[in-house]
Amino acid sequence: MINIGSINVDHVYRVPYFVKPGETLPSKSYQRVLGGKGANQSVALARAGETVKHIGVIGDDHTWIIDELKSSKVDASSIEIGTVATGHALIQVDDNAENCILLFAGANHELNLDTLTDKLAGFEKGGWVLFQNEMPNLNQMISLVKKMGARVAVNPAPFDDEAKAIDYDLVDLLIVNDLEAEELARTKCQGDLSKLAELCPVVIVTRGTQGAICYFGDDTIEVPAFKVKAVDTTGAGDTFVGYILSSIAQNLPLKEAMQRASAASALAVTKAGASVAIPTSVEVTQFLETKSDL
Ligand code: RIB
Ligand code: NA
Repeated sequence: MINIGSINVDHVYRVPYFVKPGETLPSKSYQRVLGGKGANQSVALARAGETVKHIGVIGDDHTWIIDELKSSKVDASSIEIGTVATGHALIQVDDNAENCILLFAGANHELNLDTLTDKLAGFEKGGWVLFQNEMPNLNQMISLVKKMGARVAVNPAPFDDEAKAIDYDLVDLLIVNDLEAEELARTKCQGDLSKLAELCPVVIVTRGTQGAICYFGDDTIEVPAFKVKAVDTTGAGDTFVGYILSSIAQNLPLKEAMQRASAASALAVTKAGASVAIPTSVEVTQFLETKSDL
């Protein structure tokens, strides 16, 4: 499958609490890792066992990213080197394992619609294309791949006005967190969450420690979250997205797909960092085997 998405360098600072206005706060540690919702989700797809080609743009300042993606078995041959700095994120992770993220789009915003067509050459009808909302021209890209017969999965994060303007009629699988779901329901479904299924055939809402819920047609499926010791929640949502899409593409029943994605994101939370914390399919299967109560 194809993922058209952002690639960032994450600068991760461990802090006792998020820095306040006017304050200078020493951090307990610093790590520089591969991130970006797009790259994280490609890594999650690859670790889940998918063949995934990533389409995106970085600057010439962080070309190690290409090797890192390749070593995670992501096809990085369509990643372009743009003219500005690689996108990056300043991430504070506090003692509760929560994060706050300051984003700079950089080269991510240089993805060119003209060259995109070339990169999609040979795309097979019925294949999945995944998007997040850290790239420009989402609607044009979605309609382009839709015309090629793609099945479209969207994780409209971060959720801003552009995310609200997405043409949800063209989306086959939508994955949002609880806050995004509420905002989407407020703007598109008169505040009624159960009407999210009128937007797209399958809508999955992740709810952190509350688990996940799937709306499709008149049905819902709910799975609880696995309890784990949280170290860093950064990238947990991206892990869920990669694993749910992989599971759906492999035709797993929805409930099983959601359990697998929940297990993967629970494991991701137990380790520091975003892409580096994403578990392999074997680790997820082993973890699920220890849960007899499913
Ligand atoms: O979802 C987590 C990601 O959001 C981080 O890796 C950061 O780069 C931002 O894009
Ligand atoms: Na993590």
